[in-house]
Amino acid sequence: MTKPIYIINGPNLNLLGTREPEIYGALTLDQIREACEAHAGKSGRPVVFFQSNHEGQLIDWLHDANVNASAVVMNPGAYTHTSIALHDAVRAIEPPVIEVHLSQTAAREEFRHQSFIAAAATGSITGFGLASYLLGIDAAVQSLNT
Ligand code: DQA
Repeated sequence: MTKPIYIINGPNLNLLGTREPEIYGALTLDQIREACEAHAGKSGRPVVFFQSNHEGQLIDWLHDANVNASAVVMNPGAYTHTSIALHDAVRAIEPPVIEVHLSQTAAREEFRHQSFIAAAATGSITGFGLASYLLGIDAAVQSLNT
């Protein structure tokens, strides 16, 4: 049985579509989910898509991924820049974790330059809008095939 790729989204990403569209684009999270499902489907990988505004829930899903997912694509939102607990959870699990961001965080405010996730993740893809997620799926599939 092929384990799914978990795509885990952090705080405020439920507001995509109306939230600062000049930075994050016009797509809703539902539209991103549909595009991810279609893209992963091409390589025969099912996707399970999550979003929460709560740090502990994101950690619980990472623990769940350790048992039930083949890989994780994660946009931790602002917890990227604050959460040592998420860093520890990413380090604690076996499946590859690809960090993704819609915006190019390194070109934004200084407080977005640090990622506690990058230091624990398999790799990071930032700044490509929806394509960050799709490239994240490709990177996840590639790390599973190698
Ligand atoms: C984000 C970048 C973060 O700095 C921000 O807090 C977000 C979205 C992105 O996808 O560009 O919520 O993760």
